[in-house]
Amino acid sequence: SRTVRRRDDGVLEVGGVSVLDLAREHGTAAYILDEADFRARAGAFRDEYAAAFAHLGGADVYYAGKAFLCSAVARWVMEEGLNLDVCTGGELAVAQRVGFSGERIALHGNNKTLAEIRQALSYGVGRIVVDSFAEIERIVAVATELGVVAPVMLRVTVGVEAHTHEFIATGHEDQKFGFSLAGDVAFNGVREILAHPGQLRFLGLHSHIGSQIFDTAGFETAARRLVRLHHRIADELGCAAPEIDLGGGYGIAYTSQHTPLSTAVLAEEMSHIVEQAFKTVGDGSLDDVPRVSIEPGRAIVGPAMFTLYEVGTVKPVTVADGHVRTYVSVDGGMSDNARPALYDADFSVTLANRASSAAPLVVRVVGRHCEAGDIVVQDEWLPADVTPGDLLAVPGTGAYCRSLSSQYNHTPRPPVIAVRNGESRVLIRRETIDDLLGLDVG
Ligand code: LLP
Repeated sequence: SRTVRRRDDGVLEVGGVSVLDLAREHGTAAYILDEADFRARAGAFRDEYAAAFAHLGGADVYYAGKAFLCSAVARWVMEEGLNLDVCTGGELAVAQRVGFSGERIALHGNNKTLAEIRQALSYGVGRIVVDSFAEIERIVAVATELGVVAPVMLRVTVGVEAHTHEFIATGHEDQKFGFSLAGDVAFNGVREILAHPGQLRFLGLHSHIGSQIFDTAGFETAARRLVRLHHRIADELGCAAPEIDLGGGYGIAYTSQHTPLSTAVLAEEMSHIVEQAFKTVGDGSLDDVPRVSIEPGRAIVGPAMFTLYEVGTVKPVTVADGHVRTYVSVDGGMSDNARPALYDADFSVTLANRASSAAPLVVRVVGRHCEAGDIVVQDEWLPADVTPGDLLAVPGTGAYCRSLSSQYNHTPRPPVIAVRNGESRVLIRRETIDDLLGLDVG
């Protein structure tokens, strides 16, 4: 579904717009978002999960806004018929601004403020995913104050070790999220929710095991554990919860080393996992399988965006034994993509503004920030004639790049530009030094 192609003259084109035009019109560095690709990925999740879960209780897709959110994207998500997962009042404010239907929004967070709970319940969000006993009390208080019944799910720590970077794995025991299965903490959490029928409506159990996951084995374990608890709640507390949420986390290909499943195959596998869990746990009946929801962020927006940089300097450095490493500096770096520094994440990079017949050379692409760890791509083949003024494209920067970006070194953040049908438009404008100085009121 990607609309990126290389023209005969070697110039990269996306959504029918060349990177030369993009750089001329919007400057560099810039995040370029392929609207058709985003919509196609969102639509594929919607359709494939609906099809794969049709014989069970059905499925809903929540786009995880933390991966990347702005007004236009919230509108696209709404138009494509997906739901939205937000994890702060800020993300919720974006949804509210575009009139995103409240009942299609889920609010997450392990330390939601009273103000956020109030904001969510006044707007009528469809679910709040509760994360602690203290929060249950808080939601009860706000629901009482507003005279509403809050729809809640309980986040369960399913004790799964997802094979991903430690900082983005969330299902194992020793971390801050959720109610543990051990010691009946999760069971007691549900009991506490059910003790407030006037203020809380229990929707079901939620788990999220981590991010950038390729192997569905973790989801299998998570589903089995959730289903076990689901049955126990039905048996011992007499509550047939209508939903189960298996969270997000589907991995994407940042380099050729990753081979993600197609959305269709993934949906089939997830449906099989849920079906097997219900067949093997409890009475084995598939009659009352709850509705399943998932929360993909990265898999929808990640591949739909790339970052366009301009090369500023090319510096050969003699490193060891006479070996030369070529450092290619671009006009961005860890402020617009913190993932290499934070998670040792891999990206790729390609020459975007021209063809070259020069021999390929392994280079290190680095940013313009004041630290040595400011690396965009550790080792990459680029034509040896790469030179200042060339444009480079780093694909796969849609998820957690703009949303984790900073203004480190007083660097104004790049704009987000949408391309579609031969046209580009600004979704988030480039920051200016005045934006930054405007915050500095001392
Ligand atoms: N649902 C919940 C409850 C989550 O915490 C997350 C991500 C998602 C869904 C979406 O996961 P996804 O499908 O995008 O993997 N900054 C890190 C990733 C942090 C993920 C946080 N939670 C990175 O850049 O890799």
